[in-house]
Amino acid sequence: MNALILSNSWLLAADPAKSIWTISSGQDLVMLLLSLVVLAGMVMVAVAALYLLFILRKLLNPVTVAQPVETRSLWQRVSGLRPLSQEKDLEMEHAYDGIVELNNPTPPWFMGLFFGSIGFAVIYLLIYHVIGTGDIMASEYKQEMAIADLQREEYIKKVAGSINENTVTLMNDVKGIDAGKALFAQNCTACHGVNAEGKVGPNLTDPFWLHGGTIKAVYHIISEGATEKGMIAWKKQLNPLQMQQVASYILSLQGSNPAGAKEPQGNKNAVTVALR
Ligand code: HEC
Repeated sequence: MNALILSNSWLLAADPAKSIWTISSGQDLVMLLLSLVVLAGMVMVAVAALYLLFILRKLLNPVTVAQPVETRSLWQRVSGLRPLSQEKDLEMEHAYDGIVELNNPTPPWFMGLFFGSIGFAVIYLLIYHVIGTGDIMASEYKQEMAIADLQREEYIKKVAGSINENTVTLMNDVKGIDAGKALFAQNCTACHGVNAEGKVGPNLTDPFWLHGGTIKAVYHIISEGATEKGMIAWKKQLNPLQMQQVASYILSLQGSNPAGAKEPQGNKNAVTVALR
């Protein structure tokens, strides 16, 4: 899908929910037509410039002698080569030990590439940086992120649609707790310690809680965080199911009494003690 989006970024409107195959607003259409007109204009200017150059050359060195009849093959003309019989004209003046050098002209295909790339650069500059109808990488990135956000929301709705801080329940199946343990090891140990004994963040294994020790309260603080105190809001990184798992894992640690436990913080919460 992303490949489609990239190749059609011309038509892709800022709103990723819109179909990528349609020009969905009048504004898009106007921009598209405008850039086509500008492109056509540029081609016309290029042709006119070439024609002028041609006339100028005729004026500056009018042909006095008759041109030799063209005897070169099509390939020789395309590649700018001269037949052996004309090589004498190309010889440069110096000779080293009898070795002479030919002043072969740059082949036309190369010049075509050269001027073509200059033309391309001009058109690219206009479309991507002046008119702005083309999407530079930064805006492609933004669009793809917006699409990914939408997909993420859909995914969460599908996987964990019914879990939120009002409906969350304590998991006690081994699979759920294990998943929570893995999530904790990955995301939380830096601040809460390997065994949740507490570091920068509080000890999560004692019955003392700053924000409450019910599954709903723990889920809430994980989801929303206490950013001013240094606890991240995890709802962007973890989906509701994952937050339920890690909250359940934390509560399963109640009373585990790890070594080096941090001093109690907050109020003793009878509810969690009962859960154990
Ligand atoms: C950057 C450090 C940091 C990280 C990473 C972090 N926390 Fe915290 N956490 C804190 C701090 C600091 C607090 C205390 C907030 C306060 O004082 O209100 C806290 C508080 C908490 C609380 C409430 C404790 C209480 O006493 O009420 C829970 C639950 C919690 N964190 C869970 C987690 C989980 C789960 C993760 C991983 C997904 C995590 N934390 C990652 C720093 C962190």
